[in-house]
Amino acid sequence: MSSDKPEGAEAKKERLTARNTVSCSSCIAASDRRFRPWLLDNAVRRLLSPPGKLVKEFAKEGQVVADLGSGSGFYSIPLGKKVGPKGRVYAVDFDERAIARLEKKAAKANLGEVIAAHVGSAADLHHIPEASVDSVIANGLLCCMVDHAGALSEIKRILKPEGRVYLSVARIGRKEDPRYVGRVEWEEILSGFRVIWRRDGLATRRAKVAKREIPLPAELRAR
Ligand SMILES: C[S@@+](CC[C@H](N)C(=O)[O-])C[C@H]1O[C@@H](n2cnc3c(N)ncnc32)[C@H](O)[C@@H]1O
Repeated sequence: MSSDKPEGAEAKKERLTARNTVSCSSCIAASDRRFRPWLLDNAVRRLLSPPGKLVKEFAKEGQVVADLGSGSGFYSIPLGKKVGPKGRVYAVDFDERAIARLEKKAAKANLGEVIAAHVGSAADLHHIPEASVDSVIANGLLCCMVDHAGALSEIKRILKPEGRVYLSVARIGRKEDPRYVGRVEWEEILSGFRVIWRRDGLATRRAKVAKREIPLPAELRAR
């Protein structure tokens, strides 16, 4: 940058997105954040924040669930067990190592047919049909990627009219980081949905949301 003026957060976001976005259909920005797979799925985390409660709230037998930014499957594996052989879990992460690990775990747990693991960006879910998913889990996803609008638009596209979404973002971060989701952006994101519940904790912001339009009951839709 040659200008002496301090660069605004918006301008920086645009510059980094333009510089880091791989120019292919995958929509993956080079600055999207990866984690060591074992950091995301280990005995300590399972003990301190067991995935069962979230899984119970967002998945039922036979349902279709998308776990976006799945990592190595901290939620995908219990989700697969919950939906069972008649259901499906789409696990999506741009980190191929995490997906390779998830696939191994799925095979070991006999969930190879239930969990469809995919290396790619949450901002390009072309392999998931429109209005086909009962629930989306996006735990810690948005604050690790640059293209928030792309991911949110895909979430809305794949979600059934009566579907539910779990969103969580880290509160810790720098305003000028293009991945960071600040308070104002969080409110904007939620205003695009119908909020069922929300919890603003010290370290994370979390919410359960649905599409804005409330679907008509089937008997009215048929008329
Ligand atoms: C904080 S971790 C959360 C992982 C998992 N949801 C969990 O709760 O264990 C964020 C994950 O998002 C993935 N990620 C970052 N950018 C992404 C993108 N553009 N598309 C898909 N996944 C992405 C990272 O590789 C990482 O696995």
